[in-house]
Amino acid sequence: MACFLYIRERYGHRRQRASAPMPSSAPMSSSTSNEGTSRSEDSTAVKQTSKSAGSVSSQPSISELYEEKAHNLRVFKLKELQNATNNFSRMLKIGEGGFGSVYKGFVKPPNGKGDNIIVAVKKLNTQGLQGHKQWLAEVQFLGVVEHPNLVKLIGYCAVDAERGPQRMLVYEFMPNKSLEDHLFNRAYPSLSWNTRLQIALGAAEGLAYLHEKMEVQVIYRDFKASNVLLDEEYRPKLSDFGLAREGPSEGHTHVTTAVMGTYGYAAPDYVETGHLTAKSDVWSFGVVLYEILTGRRSMERNRPRNEQKLLDWVKKFPVDSGKFSMMMDPRLENKYSLPAAREIAKLANICLSKLARERPNMSEVVDGLKEAMQYEELDGQAEPVEETSPVHSDFEDDTTKTKKEAGLASERRRMLHLAKLGENANVVGRRRFMLMKAANQA
Ligand SMILES: Nc1ncnc2c1ncn2[C@@H]1O[C@H](COP(=O)(O)OP(=O)(O)OP(=O)(O)O)[C@@H](O)[C@H]1O
Ligand SMILES: [Mg+2]
Repeated sequence: MACFLYIRERYGHRRQRASAPMPSSAPMSSSTSNEGTSRSEDSTAVKQTSKSAGSVSSQPSISELYEEKAHNLRVFKLKELQNATNNFSRMLKIGEGGFGSVYKGFVKPPNGKGDNIIVAVKKLNTQGLQGHKQWLAEVQFLGVVEHPNLVKLIGYCAVDAERGPQRMLVYEFMPNKSLEDHLFNRAYPSLSWNTRLQIALGAAEGLAYLHEKMEVQVIYRDFKASNVLLDEEYRPKLSDFGLAREGPSEGHTHVTTAVMGTYGYAAPDYVETGHLTAKSDVWSFGVVLYEILTGRRSMERNRPRNEQKLLDWVKKFPVDSGKFSMMMDPRLENKYSLPAAREIAKLANICLSKLARERPNMSEVVDGLKEAMQYEELDGQAEPVEETSPVHSDFEDDTTKTKKEAGLASERRRMLHLAKLGENANVVGRRRFMLMKAANQA
């Protein structure tokens, strides 16, 4: 029987430290090996890619591409990043995820002249080999990719200090938080219908680029609303490449990996078999499409039992039925195009096909979204429905109520207070279950 190990934190599992290369400046390869019918990955060993004997692939590996482009990344000294973040001051902390804490910082431009640049510095938890592997993957993948919908990595810092290894990543600063914040946290303004569609389209284009447009296929493996960051104009950029993997090499159908991702977003076939393909990302994209339509998280434990799993809940509102509009996010206040919403739900449904091969590829998803965006009228008025019982829980009723009273200062204060409490709850909620499973060797 498959033995799942569900853990609460990405680094909660203990592994023996392998003798991995731990460079102090230039990252080394953590690529996977080419064996048998799939590219397989040992979850503990860090291997060097070899293009010699036994390699049948003519496509370059990420580490080879990285070598060509590594010079574009800045290598920061620890001192520089300490200065940039006021010694990682709590005042400058802007987020915390399973990989570590994120701080706003100010660094000098590369030539040392002109105004400081605003950056986001992620200080990784570095307990165990896994922390180093994720840092390495992020440096290598983000060092190679180049697309308007992928966050830009400015540089990194890697030192082996007395108190242990320190690994940091320095990104362009994204001022409008994440899609997750705007969809689920009432401290942030709700997103309009058009902005939601633009975000879905941009994110799809980012994934299509990774899957189909690079010299080597990249599988992102951690697509979720919190990894879609928003720039000053709410354009989406994917962040967090710590779990990214190279796609299968020529002649192979999948990569075999230890199962990692976020509960609620990972494709069931991948969780079951450990066989990773680009279609695993397509499933996760389908989940996020439903989050965008409904304003509900893929998993929400503080809802009534039958509403906790979004993909089960949305089944109550079939796309061609009169009930469909009842699943739409009340924060849209009916300002959306019903035909477009139906198209998007249909697209989500095929992304969520049980069989991976029946899922579209991401460029087809991009086309589907563009078609749905042709519908311009923004009147999502609910059609007559077969049953009148309220489908939205008290949770949404509160949202609507507080929205109506938003003009009142006292109400506003209460809302901010609630949002703050919600934020704390989110932090706990976001300690999501990570899925790990020993790799099934093909
Ligand atoms: N480049 C950036 N610019 C601005 N804010 C950022 C940037 N990168 C991350 N953040 C902020 O830090 C928060 C935490 O990011 P992080 O990726 O560490 O965790 P997460 O995505 O919330 O969770 P997980 O670890 O499960 O991916 C983000 O939600 C965002 O608000
Ligand atoms: Mg993230």
